[in-house]
Amino acid sequence: MKTVDDFERVPLGFFPTPLESLSNVGASLGIELTIKRDDYTGFGGGGNKVRKLEYLMAEACRQGINTVITTGGHQSNHARMVAAAARKFGMKPILVLRGNPPEQYQGNLLLDKLFGAELQFLDPDQYFDLIAGAMQAHADAATARGEKALIIPLGGATPLGALGYVRAVEEMDAQLKARGESAPQVIVAPTGSGGTLAGLYVGARHYWPQTKIVGISVSAKAQWFQDRISTMAQDCADLLEWPQQWSPEDIWIEDGFVGTAYGVPSDGGIEAIYRVAQAEGVLLDPVYTGKAMHGLISLVEQGKIAQGDKVVFVHCGGSPALYPFSQRLLEQ
Ligand SMILES: Cc1ncc(COP(=O)(O)O)c(C=O)c1O
Repeated sequence: MKTVDDFERVPLGFFPTPLESLSNVGASLGIELTIKRDDYTGFGGGGNKVRKLEYLMAEACRQGINTVITTGGHQSNHARMVAAAARKFGMKPILVLRGNPPEQYQGNLLLDKLFGAELQFLDPDQYFDLIAGAMQAHADAATARGEKALIIPLGGATPLGALGYVRAVEEMDAQLKARGESAPQVIVAPTGSGGTLAGLYVGARHYWPQTKIVGISVSAKAQWFQDRISTMAQDCADLLEWPQQWSPEDIWIEDGFVGTAYGVPSDGGIEAIYRVAQAEGVLLDPVYTGKAMHGLISLVEQGKIAQGDKVVFVHCGGSPALYPFSQRLLEQ
């Protein structure tokens, strides 16, 4: 059996991130609510991708990569983080984004520009047909220039990247033990590409086998994520040589909080942003964490998360996406 320390990792973030009580929101819901502040991972504007990129960029450095290519939506935090990480190691970032060229570069698009990323925009309706070819074309062009290119898949969702969230569970376990506290009953996290959840599942089965993990989908249907995350969790556990078996039924996904589509703010998500901002002074975002908090609140109201439970909400970052949605946020 290996540990997460047996894999090469470049230090990018500030760890451990705080694990804080959200006592006002928790009391109003009748649960013991704690927040894991992975919005404070720091590097490149912070967020959950820092943990994954510590492993993925170590591999890129080992391979002597010069050009890093990835994809995401207009307001992709992942794409912004890849741009920052590529720059840190002297590599060129190329981002192929889903959406038409914007009128204004706001939020993550502005940060992409600050990091000097080359941007390509793909028509949203043709994105899924075009994306693999578009990224490969950039990789081929880089190779033709004599460079070494690496394509990082959507969300950095690979078994190696997922190790970052196995490490996050190890980190939370140490934080709680140091305070003499027990493991939580439930962890709630937003789910976009599934890598965060895959790592949380593998880590929790090892450190906190009684803890339930709920992924709140911000994009696809539950079944799609169950298949994808169980496969990724299995591959991640295999990398670690941990004797875990995963199947789709093991993965709890709630897909009722997406709203109309990925990247489009929902009424419930915006309500959750206001509620947490005004009760706790904590900023969520309209694409990921607001929708995830809406899910958490609703699951408590529906009794799927029991009164009195100790619940950890993983704050995956994303606040740059508040600003491009200012109009929508102010309308509600
Ligand atoms: C702020 C934020 N929350 C949650 C997620 C979802 O994480 P994952 O892609 O690992 O499912 C992302 C990923 O893009 C994100 O940027």
